[in-house]
Amino acid sequence: MKAPKSVYVCQSCGAQSQKWLGRCADCGAWNSFVEETPIAEAPSRGAAAALGGSTPRLYAEVDLLVADRLGTGIGEFDRVLGGGLVPGSLVLLGGEPGIGKSTLLLQAAANFASSVGPVLYCSGEESEHQIKMRGERLGVGDAPLYLLAETCVERLLEAVDRLRPRLLIVDSIQTVFSLKLPSAPGSVGQVRQAATDLLFTAKGRNLPTILVGHVTKDGSLAGPKVLEHVVDTVLYFEGHQHQMHRVVRAVKNRFGAVSELGVFEMTGAGLKAVPNPSKLFLSERPSNVPGSVVLAAMEGSRPILVEVQALVSTATFGNARRTANGLDQSRLALLLAVLDKRAGLNLSTDDVFVNVAGGLTISEPAADMAILAAVASSLRNRPIATGVVVFGEVGLAGEVRATPQSALRLREARQLGFTQCVMPRMDTAPEDGPAGLSITGVRTIGEALDALL
Ligand code: TYD
Ligand code: MG
Repeated sequence: MKAPKSVYVCQSCGAQSQKWLGRCADCGAWNSFVEETPIAEAPSRGAAAALGGSTPRLYAEVDLLVADRLGTGIGEFDRVLGGGLVPGSLVLLGGEPGIGKSTLLLQAAANFASSVGPVLYCSGEESEHQIKMRGERLGVGDAPLYLLAETCVERLLEAVDRLRPRLLIVDSIQTVFSLKLPSAPGSVGQVRQAATDLLFTAKGRNLPTILVGHVTKDGSLAGPKVLEHVVDTVLYFEGHQHQMHRVVRAVKNRFGAVSELGVFEMTGAGLKAVPNPSKLFLSERPSNVPGSVVLAAMEGSRPILVEVQALVSTATFGNARRTANGLDQSRLALLLAVLDKRAGLNLSTDDVFVNVAGGLTISEPAADMAILAAVASSLRNRPIATGVVVFGEVGLAGEVRATPQSALRLREARQLGFTQCVMPRMDTAPEDGPAGLSITGVRTIGEALDALL
């Protein structure tokens, strides 16, 4: 038989080509093709058996399994998972180096081991001693937590066979390799193969498995996009190294809501859950300063109050700059055009900087009114009252549009002692405004600015 010809595989999207290409035609990445040898592999019987023999079954005959969630003992982590780990699920936790992935998982592993059963923590990045040193800081007691420094997926699965853990953690899928492929660990082929092997084991044994994934400079998960399709849940760890708080966000979840958020604080003894993030994000808010307003945002099922800041200053050399931090840049440009046309505030000769304080990223359109209010406040040099909170989407005609889940936003604002809310007129219902929070419903951006400034 002829030896299989090698193929070139794009390391960022997994596209294949017969020839080496300088630029991937699929994803546009430069210099990303690496030669790999495909293996003509007959599907192994073991793999098929591990998935369970499947014969077609009538819908009505399938029993409804209400998956019992396994708590990790870390409330904020359980929340992003949708209420705890589902048995047999494969979870991918991505994030930049040093953000705290290993720390969080070691803490979760120790809690899980003492409350549910044995945990196998497999690391290809650190030795057992290094993990132990970290564990001492985190106060890992003598729970049945097993450490394994191993990068070969076959040997890893042997250890799973022997130990029969209730939870498997693989610290970085990019470091493990399968003996079935000749390519180096971290290449698309290897990552895909290792993830698939782990998937079969997770489903076959009903073993919840958490994989750590690295992210590239541009913020996406390193290795192939296919990894995100293989797993049940994708979580991202966000935050800045220089800020103490970290956010874990669900971007895909087959067992829960997406864009669910968990907030942590990095301390000397590991990550601590922050049960009331609004308080944290507003803790350093200046009072009576122009250009600052509080936005009642929703992240998944949770309302969070954050401060939106804007600074408008005269542009030098005539070319005005627009900078958005924690917000979409093009959305800001659009909103400034609305402000010009519909509210008569011309900013063409000004630099505009907008920032979400605390390093959070807000992507929902309900932030529109807060952005406009902050910009207008800075431009007119008039502060917005400290007890005011705003939310609402703004359309191109300057109209303020209805926004989902206003009741939850109002409740959070009330709990944190805010006294006035400027919000879309459409959403105001008579039962909304009891207990010290007065509601101002507005129909246009002009009305909103009149109410606020
Ligand atoms: P780590 O969890 O190893 O990050 P990752 O696995 O995502 O690369 O690193 C976490 C960072 O947090 C590291 O720079 C040291 C710091 N840290 C603390 O501040 N307190 C602690 O208790 C621990 C364990 C780490
Ligand atoms: Mg790590």
